[in-house]
Amino acid sequence: GGAGHVEDYDFSFEGPFGTFDQNQLQRGLKVYTEVCAACHGLKFVPIRTLGDAGGPDLPADQVREYAKLYEVYDEELEDFREAKPVDHFPESALENAPDLSLMAKARAGFHGPYGLGINQLMKGMGGPEYIASLMTGYVDPPACAPDDFDGYYNRAFTAGGIPAECKDENGYSKIEGSWIGMAPPLDDGYVEFDDGHENDLENLSKDVSAFLMWTAEPKMMARKQAGLTGVLFLTVLAVLLYLANKRLWAPIK
Ligand code: HEM
Repeated sequence: GGAGHVEDYDFSFEGPFGTFDQNQLQRGLKVYTEVCAACHGLKFVPIRTLGDAGGPDLPADQVREYAKLYEVYDEELEDFREAKPVDHFPESALENAPDLSLMAKARAGFHGPYGLGINQLMKGMGGPEYIASLMTGYVDPPACAPDDFDGYYNRAFTAGGIPAECKDENGYSKIEGSWIGMAPPLDDGYVEFDDGHENDLENLSKDVSAFLMWTAEPKMMARKQAGLTGVLFLTVLAVLLYLANKRLWAPIK
């Protein structure tokens, strides 16, 4: 495939001090549940983690209610039963729809390494930007494409089919993006929020992408906290070692 168009959306969790926005994670969960879950799964995510403080932080009773939306296969019963918080989300319902648990870390929006990697430190690798750009990336197909080419043209998706008419003499793509087997899943107003939060296509796309960043890296907030504590500790230690060194050598120098 050729290049894809990835929009550099801003997310609250970017940068060394970034944190998840819990309201956004809850909105993203709603988008996932009402739209994406019809085809995709989150098989690596335990439902109980929806109650984690570093995640959507749902109260325990809401987590229990939420679990009831799904059915899981119980080995002991040898039958399906209502899911409980200890169960994982189901696998993808549609065979060719990939599991989304780790998708935000399996895709990159920005490519590198360039320079010192400062961009990656400040903005991440662009996984959530890629997913949001995929949601907003269904635009009119380029003029080179025949009308009956199979699938939906998406300017962010690069792994799909490209008609021969849109390739150069060496077989390389002349266009951005490619054709994808997923119909546009979102549009303005597809999901509504109880608090009336904005729900145009771009907002819904960013919310579900933030939620999928959390599923892919549920301990991000704890990790950044530990990193910051470590840097502070080492800074204090460096000062103390410097002063100790000065004092030890003072009589000799
Ligand atoms: C692929 C996200 C809803 C069917 C994908 C991919 C992502 C994604 C990130 C992978 C793209 C890649 O490989 O780079 C979402 C989100 C949804 C959603 C966030 C909800 C807002 C749906 C729905 C369906 C569906 C409702 C079925 C009706 C598929 C299929 C693919 C796919 C078949 C594979 C496409 C291909 O490889 O050509 N989706 N999806 N998705 N999705 Fe969805």
